Amino acid sequence: MISEQALAPPRELVDKKGRVAGKLRISVTDRCNFACLFCMPDKESIRWLPKEDILSFEEIERVTRVLVSLGITKVRVTGGEPLLRKGVESLIARLTRIDGLESVDLTTNGWFLAEKARALKAAGLRGATVSLHSLREDRFAKISGLNALSRVLEGISEAVRVGIEPLKINSVAIRGYNDDEVLDLVEFARDRNISIRFIEFMPLDGLGIWSQDKIVTGQEILDIVASRFPLVSKGRSKGETASLWEFEDGKGKLGVITPMSAPFCDDCDRLRLTSDGKLLSCLFDTEYHDLKPIVRKGGSDTELANLITAAVWRKPDGVGYMPWIKEGWGKPRNMNAIGG
Ligand code: 5AD
Ligand code: SF4
Repeated sequence: MISEQALAPPRELVDKKGRVAGKLRISVTDRCNFACLFCMPDKESIRWLPKEDILSFEEIERVTRVLVSLGITKVRVTGGEPLLRKGVESLIARLTRIDGLESVDLTTNGWFLAEKARALKAAGLRGATVSLHSLREDRFAKISGLNALSRVLEGISEAVRVGIEPLKINSVAIRGYNDDEVLDLVEFARDRNISIRFIEFMPLDGLGIWSQDKIVTGQEILDIVASRFPLVSKGRSKGETASLWEFEDGKGKLGVITPMSAPFCDDCDRLRLTSDGKLLSCLFDTEYHDLKPIVRKGGSDTELANLITAAVWRKPDGVGYMPWIKEGWGKPRNMNAIGG
């Protein structure tokens, strides 16, 4: 008799805690035309990656194919700002053709979305997440470093119009900066019937403004929102970052992402690929696994797969197990290098 174990599919992207990776976030550039104060380093100290170190679309496609053959089923394209990468829609078209890949989504600051939405949709993009931290022009400029509110709002409208779905808004609430806009942001999203997700401020900022008291926790967000709108809990699905809530009237959706107050590392199923070809198994890991030497020096797919599976095996337990990060005494990198 064949045992059940013999029939089980190979689970090669498994780590030492038994978590299995199924999602990949691909950063296609570390550059950004915004400078969000919780993400970018200050202008003087920015060192962009040299062009020759950035993986080409062919190279990204190859690495993604190997990862899909090992069990990845969902890809999210991020940056820096991914739409700054010239011709990124052709990369999306290449990725969406990979057999076994179920979806390709995008995380963007929205600046180029109005002009690119149609081409992205045609390339096979499924959904997009647009970062929006304020609805006040002056504040938006202060937080994101560019007077871009109206353009981002146009981008959101255009994405809705061309049917990019699911469309979501990501907001980072920071105490003393925009925490008085939670209800306005929620209303904005509900009026358009789109989901809004609040992410707790993580110590991955470039300017060093992070401190524990600036985190607006998911619970605080829920208390604020529930004071105006009755909420229905939908829980958090396995491997998802957001705990979801619906509004009693069915308009829109709310998510809270709580990496600081209630980390979700125990069922994390994400891997990250940096724009210069390094695999990162955790946002807070300090160990990069460089795939570029294999890709650029004629290595085989088997060699790539071996390096990837060894890297995944070593995935850290997660931020919940790293008190030095939660307390703010250690910061592995700035967010722009990895795109969330
Ligand atoms: N903490 C939490 N979220 C952050 N983002 C960028 N930097 C931080 C940070 N330090 C958000 C971006 C984007 C998402 C990918 O991560 O605004 O919406
Ligand atoms: Fe750019 Fe996104 Fe970082 Fe803001 S959060 S600076 S939009 S990469």
